[in-house]
Amino acid sequence: MSQRHSATITARAGIAQDPAYGAVTPPLYLSSTFALPAFKQPGRYDYSRSNNPNRDLLGDALAELEGGARAIVTNTGMSACLLALQLLTPADTLVIPHDCYGGSYRLFLNLAQRKQAFKLVIVNFLKDDWAAQVQAAAPKMIWVETPSNPLLQITDIVAVAAVSRALSAYLVVDNTFLSPILQNPIALGADLVVHSTTKYLNGHSDIVGGALICKDAAIGDELKWWANCLGVTGSAFDAHQTLRGLRTLLPRIKAHERNAAAVVAFLQQEPLVAQLYYPGLASHPGHQIAKTQQQGFGGMVSFDLAADATYLPVFFAALQCFTLAQSLGGIESLICHPGTMTHASMDAAAQATAGIGPTLIRLSVGIEDERDLIADLAQAFAAVRAAIAKSGEDVGRDHTASQKTLSHETPSKPPIAVSAPVAEHAAVATEPVQPRRSGNGSIVVHDTQVTDDSTASWHNNPALCAFW
Ligand SMILES: Cc1ncc(COP(=O)(O)O)c(C=O)c1O
Repeated sequence: MSQRHSATITARAGIAQDPAYGAVTPPLYLSSTFALPAFKQPGRYDYSRSNNPNRDLLGDALAELEGGARAIVTNTGMSACLLALQLLTPADTLVIPHDCYGGSYRLFLNLAQRKQAFKLVIVNFLKDDWAAQVQAAAPKMIWVETPSNPLLQITDIVAVAAVSRALSAYLVVDNTFLSPILQNPIALGADLVVHSTTKYLNGHSDIVGGALICKDAAIGDELKWWANCLGVTGSAFDAHQTLRGLRTLLPRIKAHERNAAAVVAFLQQEPLVAQLYYPGLASHPGHQIAKTQQQGFGGMVSFDLAADATYLPVFFAALQCFTLAQSLGGIESLICHPGTMTHASMDAAAQATAGIGPTLIRLSVGIEDERDLIADLAQAFAAVRAAIAKSGEDVGRDHTASQKTLSHETPSKPPIAVSAPVAEHAAVATEPVQPRRSGNGSIVVHDTQVTDDSTASWHNNPALCAFW
């Protein structure tokens, strides 16, 4: 059969492939080990860390969806990131964007600084001279996250791929925010695609997982070897659940998008929204690129509340349909405060550089009825208005059209001090990382030494207990 369409790939993922009994939906192989047919004769499967039928079904579907030769299914999105980094040595340079998921940023920074695993250069891909900065860094790998978490900034994958090809560097694209339904980085020139399958691919917020899809079979085989060696492969149960979720990916994504567009239209006319970040808006700086490289704008929306950060608790407490929680991409609507939640692992300076302000709010718009979502937001904004009125504060600010147009500038207010991380996977708020600005505007961090004192302070930080 010729190349299948994504609706068919997803709906038929793992269907009617059971060699034992012809089960239409795949059975779950929980076995950790598989019998050898005879001495020194390996069977198709031997040990589930290396290979497992459920993981293979999911991997095959993801490779086909992303147009890659191999897909390695990992136990978290972070381990998929870690796996890609196995292609680097301490002599190599990794270029990362200045704004990306806080956990990815933490991984890059700490591997570079504390393990000297590679040299790290942070580049703002929105600056006109980004290509010169990347070329000056002479990287072995370029990491792109587009749309970015949480500001939904768009990076031109085709343009970065041209630079990476000329440098013989690997281009890795984190495609978590869109899924292969809305963006196919390999077709745009990427070598590797990362997913947190925890998000849209599974879609039901009931597993944690990841995937690394490789364009090239030999690189895929090498990274598959590393996945087994490191022990980062995903469990059979999680693969089974994710494959189940994957079958409805296309209709779910459409529903997320429809609702996100309705929520954006509502937020556009809300006076308590200072800035709105959604690539579907014509005023978004990355709108034209998004239109070219994406098949839709997705279900993620961020905005700055046009009130003091002290009113955030009022806003969050009033919500009934949006749940205040980490993560995204599930069928249920979630809301989060990136500064103290998903991006708490970035220190205040890094947050300010990335443009994450104290009143930034991120929505993962679910598939509930859009009228209920809008009504929920409306009453939460009303609660903030009432609280402001009660406090007698003069907040009758005139939020002019220019303030409400999309902007990716760093907000003028200083970022909040990140003192109270609220989730264990976002808990590293006090890392003593001191990136240095190089002559050409990029940020170089690989030569910053961590002192014994600062290491001790990490160990003494109760927020970090889960990590030691
Ligand atoms: C863009 C992005 N990449 C990677 C990850 C890490 O995924 P996981 O939480 O599954 O380890 C996340 C998590 O939020 C993310 O948003």
